[in-house]
Amino acid sequence: MDSIIVTGNGPVSGQIPIAGAKNACLTLMPATLLSDEPLTLTNAPRLSDIKTMTELLQSLGAEVTSMSDGQVLAMSSHNIDNHIADYDIVRKMRASNLVLGPMLARLGHAVVSLPGGCAIGARPMDLHIDALTALGAEIELKDGYLHAEAKGGLKGAVHEMRFASVGATENVLMAATLAKGTTVLKNAAREPEIVDLADCLRKMGAQIEGDGTSEITIQGVDRLHGATHPVVTDRIELGTYMLAPAICGGEVECLGGRIELVGAFCEKLDAAGISVEETDKGLKVARKNGRVRAVDVTTEPFPGFPTDLQAQMMALMCTAEGSCVLEEKIFENRFMHAPELTRMGARIDVHGGTATVTGVDTLKGAPVMATDLRASVSLILAGLAAEGETVVSRVYHLDRGYEKVVQKLRNIGAKIERVKTS
Ligand code: UD1
Repeated sequence: MDSIIVTGNGPVSGQIPIAGAKNACLTLMPATLLSDEPLTLTNAPRLSDIKTMTELLQSLGAEVTSMSDGQVLAMSSHNIDNHIADYDIVRKMRASNLVLGPMLARLGHAVVSLPGGCAIGARPMDLHIDALTALGAEIELKDGYLHAEAKGGLKGAVHEMRFASVGATENVLMAATLAKGTTVLKNAAREPEIVDLADCLRKMGAQIEGDGTSEITIQGVDRLHGATHPVVTDRIELGTYMLAPAICGGEVECLGGRIELVGAFCEKLDAAGISVEETDKGLKVARKNGRVRAVDVTTEPFPGFPTDLQAQMMALMCTAEGSCVLEEKIFENRFMHAPELTRMGARIDVHGGTATVTGVDTLKGAPVMATDLRASVSLILAGLAAEGETVVSRVYHLDRGYEKVVQKLRNIGAKIERVKTS
């Protein structure tokens, strides 16, 4: 198992290229199941989660070829000969459940393992099931698997979700493209990854309107055709690297970044005293003088502050002047980075879904353990600002969502290396 060693090394400066979005790619890939013609994705990120989705699609009979050092994924689903998404793959990654909608639409049946809980919460599938049931699917839970069937095909319907789930919106969006008639999804999620999926589906011949708003209308068509689509920029990777100069001082340009992907996050950076400037290549972020100010943050569905940047923002707030409250509203158990940051000298008090952080003058390097993807990168950010050496173990979490993290941070002057520990 590898570890990452970070040593606080003062201000950072330079440029960081931002990759294609993991979460967009993970929903664009199953869209291949909707058509017997090829779907090619460009600007794909090189991550272990993408390999897991590749493995899952291949297990269903799809062809997935990785080209250009993994940045191009050429997929074809002309021969889907298995309709069972096996527990052994699904348990590795919850996004595996995104094959349910497309398989149901294309084949009329699908068997998908329930993903089970994960470190950040229970994460049930009820919203997916309710929405697909509204489209005429019959779904039953047997032996830990969802058995879904749409005899005579899916039928368009008006459905309002109880909560704007990202994954359920994506499953319904894909399923409804091939349903008979019109589907109106109310209280839909508005994340940029959903707009990216809708853009790709439109290129494949789908008729979709309203993506990016909370009401999406999909007019079903008989078949979808092939397409080529570039994956949208990863707003979470973007936000993460924007925090490097915020926490260490200095100035970094994040190439490919756009304000509209991280609007609520930029408002908080501004309140904390960090400047963000749009350039013709991306976003330039700087902290030139003084300490960061403490700001309260509440996570919300897009366009609110993303839960996937909460751990990284907490790392910044650990070094801020004053106290603030971070409230986690999306997942019930997403403060596991707090005790690890405390080992580095941070002052954090967690009560249920709320963490009160009181900034300290300096964090101190320590051995820490990552518990999930975003938690691990928050520990690296904290390590960049700490005095001495921080050793982050269980780095495999990072490989799920950050490509070339060591190289990208070294290029802006960080002292960081990856080492093999047994
Ligand atoms: C996606 C992202 C993840 C991000 C999350 C919230 C991907 C691959 N992952 O996850 O990085 O943190 O959005 O922005 O895109 N819920 C239910 N019932 C359901 C579905 C969800 O109660 O059927 C709950 C979940 O337990 C959670 C909340 O709704 O508390 C948000 O989940 P959801 O929006 O579905 O997130 P994901 O699509 O799993």
